[in-house]
Amino acid sequence: MEDIPTQPQPLLTPYKLGIFNLSHRVVLAPLTRQRSYNHVPQPHAILYYSQRTTKGGLLIAEATVVSDTARGYPDTPGIWTKEQVEAWKPIVDAVHAKGGIFFCQIWHVGRVSNKALQPNGQAPISSTDKPLTDITAHSPPRRLQTDEIPQIVNDFRIAARNAIEAGFDGVEIHGAHGYLIDQFLKDQVNDRTDQYGGSLENRCRFALEIVEAIVNEIGADKVGIRLSPYTEYMESVDSNPEALGLYMVEALNKYGILYCHVVEPRINKVGEVSESAQSLVPMRKAFKGTFIAAGGYDREDGNNAVAENRADLIAYGRVFLANPDLPRRFELGAPLNQYDRNSFYTSDPVIGYTDYPFLEPNGNS
Ligand SMILES: Cc1cc2nc3c(=O)[nH]c(=O)nc-3n(C[C@H](O)[C@H](O)[C@H](O)COP(=O)(O)O)c2cc1C
Repeated sequence: MEDIPTQPQPLLTPYKLGIFNLSHRVVLAPLTRQRSYNHVPQPHAILYYSQRTTKGGLLIAEATVVSDTARGYPDTPGIWTKEQVEAWKPIVDAVHAKGGIFFCQIWHVGRVSNKALQPNGQAPISSTDKPLTDITAHSPPRRLQTDEIPQIVNDFRIAARNAIEAGFDGVEIHGAHGYLIDQFLKDQVNDRTDQYGGSLENRCRFALEIVEAIVNEIGADKVGIRLSPYTEYMESVDSNPEALGLYMVEALNKYGILYCHVVEPRINKVGEVSESAQSLVPMRKAFKGTFIAAGGYDREDGNNAVAENRADLIAYGRVFLANPDLPRRFELGAPLNQYDRNSFYTSDPVIGYTDYPFLEPNGNS
């Protein structure tokens, strides 16, 4: 064990997230694990999520697809069928039983898909018909017609309703990482000429229509959104990410949503950490709700970000994946387990999933 701090660390201080009383600020970032066979959540997720639950801790579930056209990877969970909603319930119950607060990240991949994963082998849908470079993995998309867009907005609305029905405390709209919403937001992907393309206002319209529909369905106090204006994941690039990020948070202020969760500019297009001169501070200052930052944080960096008021909460991805007792390890200044990249997306229900060791005996209960 390293230094055992005497003062409570900023990360381990309480925070009031709307109606939720968080006991600390170490959030489980959404992490796709591809262990939901045939898009149905599985009982092994009960142990996985409850291992990462603390009393008063916030967990964001892995990206969960909103419809049959929303799928881009095998075995990611869904939330559009009754069977999926029922399958989520015991997982959510287990998190609640340990006092956790659990949000569902709802997702449409857009063009990051393949015909083999689409209903009737159809082309994936997007803001554009421009394909991703690797057209073996990702089939060329079909540009949504203007009058088809309300149906996709509605799919998100129903997914949010289903998440509440499954017992989740709220939803996080996945507007990051080059997936469908980001394909509308970013000007190097969105080449539309209708009211969903061109100006910033037009490119943000789809995202904001989804926000509005979900706010009206489940209430603004249960809605968060994740954005990554700076990240160039899945070839989704904007020529002016700062303007895009600021426009979005200012528009979000009008809906009074609970939180905005933003990925740091230092996370590059392959998801690794690199140097960046840009910062989330302008977005943090402009947004009136809770601000969650993610991407490349360790204990010290997270403590500094909270102490300096650069974020209210910090979401941890890879280190929380590999350290189910991450808040406790931070409390003790204990060493961390290394994550095993090779088992991030394998389908084993135990290996690389629920077998990362706890620091203390009986932690796994
Ligand atoms: C295995 C894995 C799965 C991920 N799945 C998702 C996801 O479903 N939704 C999402 O928004 N981000 C996803 N991410 C990104 C993480 O939430 C996080 O932003 C990223 O790992 C950077 O944070 P870190 O440095 O703390 O890991 C994933 C990352 C990894 C490593």
